[in-house]
Amino acid sequence: SKPEPAIFFILGGSGDLTYRKLIPALYNLFLDDWMPEQFHIIGIGRTAYSNEKYKAHLLEGIHKFSRRKNHIEHWNEFSEHIEYLKMDVEDDQAYQSISKIVQDKEKLFGAHPNVIFYLAVAPQLVPDIAKHLGQLNICADQKCCRIVVEKPFGHDLQSAHELNQLLQSMFDESQIYRIDHYLGKETVQNILAFRFANALFEPIWNRNYIDHIQITAAESVGLEGRNSYYEKAGALRDMVQNHILQLLCMIAMEAPVSFDANEIRNKKVDVLNAIRKIRKEEVQDYAVRGQYGPGWMKGQKVVGYRQEKGVNPESPVETFAAVKFYVDNWRWQGVPFYVRTGKYLHEKTTIIVLQFRPAPHYAFPPEAAETWRPNRLTISIQPNMDIRIRFQAKRPGQKMTLSPVDMVFNYEEAYEDHSPEAYETLLLDIMEGDATLFMRADQVEAAWRVITPILEAWQNRPPVDFPNYAPGTWGPEDAEALIARDGHNWITLP
Ligand code: BG6
Repeated sequence: SKPEPAIFFILGGSGDLTYRKLIPALYNLFLDDWMPEQFHIIGIGRTAYSNEKYKAHLLEGIHKFSRRKNHIEHWNEFSEHIEYLKMDVEDDQAYQSISKIVQDKEKLFGAHPNVIFYLAVAPQLVPDIAKHLGQLNICADQKCCRIVVEKPFGHDLQSAHELNQLLQSMFDESQIYRIDHYLGKETVQNILAFRFANALFEPIWNRNYIDHIQITAAESVGLEGRNSYYEKAGALRDMVQNHILQLLCMIAMEAPVSFDANEIRNKKVDVLNAIRKIRKEEVQDYAVRGQYGPGWMKGQKVVGYRQEKGVNPESPVETFAAVKFYVDNWRWQGVPFYVRTGKYLHEKTTIIVLQFRPAPHYAFPPEAAETWRPNRLTISIQPNMDIRIRFQAKRPGQKMTLSPVDMVFNYEEAYEDHSPEAYETLLLDIMEGDATLFMRADQVEAAWRVITPILEAWQNRPPVDFPNYAPGTWGPEDAEALIARDGHNWITLP
């Protein structure tokens, strides 16, 4: 059934996220008949727009960024539900107009709507806006009023904790939706189905059978205009603290008893709490940072990170990070989790690899040994969406020779239905009041705790070898060394 009537206030309504992701996602939900019968979207921003101009601007975003760029036949119908409100979010008085809109809509709908505040604004504005919103009467309604906060959620453990305290002093935890858009990706959600809806894999999903695990989230893009944000963030904060640790949790968590939001989140927090604290003096053995220099990317010349606009010419900020984690619990003791991410890498690919231990005994003729490979399970999150299991097969012919082959499940081939975009899934969940795929306060803080020693060590010891990788490669050589020391190498799909 469709969600209850809803009013969306998008603060940062004239910004990039609204244009690229939120409006295309809401429109796709509308096309798929998932929007409530009665809904209204109010974009709030500082730029002056007439309603007409605003809608034209949003339509342009659909043309450019929607997965269904050309399906605009219902745009007019959809955009009747949109209006623009020019407002200075620092002005106390301005918030009254929000209450007024809610009252008017409630009358019009003849029903009590869910009121959703989506904060698609610069992180430094979040505390102030939350304070203002928290004082509105409508926000006291714990069941119907929700606040959505984008990442980055804090800058370190301390600031994340303060932000949590502030939000929780204004809202009930059940009203707060902290977004990590990776959790909305189909292939990420499928990890739970794969692991816990099948009896086949779970018995071998542990230290007895798994040798090590790799998570690669490589990007072929650079800063995409977010220079000043990135200069304050770096790869560890931008990707590891959130997306990569979330993927790690999905792979490492224990089986949930139910699909209850808190049950799933408890199991993930258990993983984060079990991740071994890296001692300060050991950071260089566990973590590698990199920064790209000038070079070429797909035939295009690109400048080095330090030459980017708005970036300090001696910037110590990392655009690449690789870390080896251990999860100290019964299931994972001794199994390394290698993770890496970076900008301007060889290609865009997010994959998770579970490398199994070799078969315990080799019984084949010596000539077969060359191609003898341990089993491997690869979950491709994007852009390929598949799961493959590598196993040994007998090569056709008179000799007993082996060759590794892949058994592949591919989303696009298996299902005719299209995969919704992460933001479509997450926005629908917010309207339905389902927080399973959102970050709880303790989860965010636990993730910060995991990376704090690395952040601190890197801050205290400026990098001496930056830039240390060229665009279009797989990052710095030290990242290869990190994993090679343990006798492994990073795995990419052919
Ligand atoms: C964002 C990061 O959270 O995720 C970006 O801030 C990054 O720097 C992006 O490019 C990657 O998302 P996706 O969905 O393209 O893998």
